[in-house]
Amino acid sequence: AAEDGLNAWLRYARLPDNIIRQAGIPSSIVALNSTETSPVFVAGLELQRGIKGALGTNLDVAHKSNKGSSIVVGTVDAFTATGGKTGAPELEEDGFWLDTTGKTVQILGQNERGALYGAFEYLSMLAQGNFTKVAYATNPSASIRWVNQWDNMDGTIERGYAGLSIFFKNNTTVANTTRVAEYARLLASIGINGIVVNNVNANPILLSDENMAGLGKIADAMRPWGVRVGISLNFASPQTLGGLPTFDPLDKSVVAWWHDQTDKLYKHVPDMAGYLVKANSEGQPGPITYNRTLADGANLFAKAVKPYGGIVMFRAFVYDYQHLNESNWKDDRANAAVDHFRDLDGEFDDNIIVQVKYGPIDFQVREPASPLFAHLQQTSSAIELQVSQEYLGQQCHLVYLAPLWKTILDFDLRIDGEKSVIGEDVLSGKRFNKKLSGYAAVVNVGQNTTWLGTHLAMSNLYAYGRIAWDPTVDEVAILQDWTRLTYGLNRKVLDTITELSMQSWVAYENYTGNLGVQTLTDITYNHYGPNPQSMDNNPWGQWTRADSDSIGMDRTVWNGTGFSGQYPSEVAARFESIETTPDDLLLWFHHVPYTHVLKSGKTVIQHFYDAHYDGAETASSFPRKWTSLKGLVDTQRFEEMLFRLEYQAGHAIVWRDSIVQFYNNVSGIPTAAAA
Ligand code: GCU
Repeated sequence: AAEDGLNAWLRYARLPDNIIRQAGIPSSIVALNSTETSPVFVAGLELQRGIKGALGTNLDVAHKSNKGSSIVVGTVDAFTATGGKTGAPELEEDGFWLDTTGKTVQILGQNERGALYGAFEYLSMLAQGNFTKVAYATNPSASIRWVNQWDNMDGTIERGYAGLSIFFKNNTTVANTTRVAEYARLLASIGINGIVVNNVNANPILLSDENMAGLGKIADAMRPWGVRVGISLNFASPQTLGGLPTFDPLDKSVVAWWHDQTDKLYKHVPDMAGYLVKANSEGQPGPITYNRTLADGANLFAKAVKPYGGIVMFRAFVYDYQHLNESNWKDDRANAAVDHFRDLDGEFDDNIIVQVKYGPIDFQVREPASPLFAHLQQTSSAIELQVSQEYLGQQCHLVYLAPLWKTILDFDLRIDGEKSVIGEDVLSGKRFNKKLSGYAAVVNVGQNTTWLGTHLAMSNLYAYGRIAWDPTVDEVAILQDWTRLTYGLNRKVLDTITELSMQSWVAYENYTGNLGVQTLTDITYNHYGPNPQSMDNNPWGQWTRADSDSIGMDRTVWNGTGFSGQYPSEVAARFESIETTPDDLLLWFHHVPYTHVLKSGKTVIQHFYDAHYDGAETASSFPRKWTSLKGLVDTQRFEEMLFRLEYQAGHAIVWRDSIVQFYNNVSGIPTAAAA
């Protein structure tokens, strides 16, 4: 069972005989590359493995086209070079053509990576018992589809909830890269093409000679799966590791030092994806220390990786926690990203991508989309999502995140009055004509055999990849693909997991922080469990401004922090007014009395009370519904998941009572109608 866990949604469990009988697939596989470390070679083996698992048929893999019926996987170019005829249209980078209508199944990529993605897509169909004849091309929505691991060199993982790192141990890279390769396989199967392996709060020790060599091994393990490796940098490294007197990004010796390190890294990892940089945030060093701009800092790295085709993901998560003061009504951490980057648009080299967290604060249960996307018009941007459920129950709670992400990706920023939907238009690069743009997600898998620490959490990683490929994809459809691949075809299992998952984010929001007030979890330390009192008077700038009469951050231009004015005018106008702000973001944008009446007709405080009872009620139904799957899910997963869901149901009550009691105390308004 542990091994099945490692296979996640790639377990290729044997289908029922009556379904297998309808398969009618070709009798051999042709992978048009015989180099063992090439993605196409690997795709051939994966097809063999998947078909053997799901259909029970052993197919040979050849590397030259044959006359009989076969499944051919390779690049379009390799296929046509051997005289193959295909209906494939012009493809984009990493795209593929899948044609199952002919005697030969064609899985043809624009490049090798695309071919591998096509093989996974074909296998996903087969493993779900779907033998429909199809012929279509698909291209990724964006070129950057990365994951970020927040792994520390000592093997711990920042905000990781699934054991120790699969990459590092005792300040060095691991010697055994089996798990690394297995992770790359999972990532490839959902179209992920890059990974940053170490924490954004980076330890310079990664740049030691020994560790650079180790990175080379990690990259070797991931390369056959088309996953390129990048690393997070610590801005002060020239001083702390290099022994220079400064880390000023414009100092000649500093520039030379970084170029030198970069050259060495590329010797070990010739196709290194690039760098990720967190600078001048939460105590991290950065260019501002020397009165240089963030662009000065980013450009230094961009120039170093440019000759190698590398890129720099520069994080927009920049804020100064030492200077946030709640007694100042206009102080607002949410303003920080736009304040820092607005005037730098156009100052960044063209291989820099500004990586922006989806909301202006920090992975909260409900946030408006970051307005920074509207300001980066000459600069490439990527969104940062978080698969790891830092503020969302840390994998002890089932929270399917795709619906949350979709509220952001489907949001239309109306930049200059034109349609500017974040996923479709902005991150795709179309709105501002950018080639480099896309997605990064903090994933933080660990050594646990479920990867993320629990059996239902991997739907989030799966969904992330699918959404990065196509942000318009339906979140229920991808959840159901994942469920069938992970739990088999039983209808009741499918319906139950769908029901639980689709209720989970709403429930979590209900029993944690409502109406855009933020998650109300512990903010000082572990970000887990209810701690509404920590949400004010903290230095982190995550405030609710709750007093005995009223609550919410006034972020209006006319009377508040001015944050709403960071959006393009149509959107700004909508959020500026209470009337046009949706209930679920009311307290994000406005400070109102507890007795303020919502569009729903309830008062704010009554909504708080009722939502907490509703949310806990929904969570309490999860174990019962899961129990109905007894015998339909293998015992281990059934029992372990039941344990988690029972815990969640109980913890939801803890949440409910803590929050209800807290606001009851603060406001003095009875919970009268609640329950
Ligand atoms: C959050 C998180 C930190 C992390 C930071 C970041 O604040 O709690 O652990 O370092 O985000 O994204 O840089």
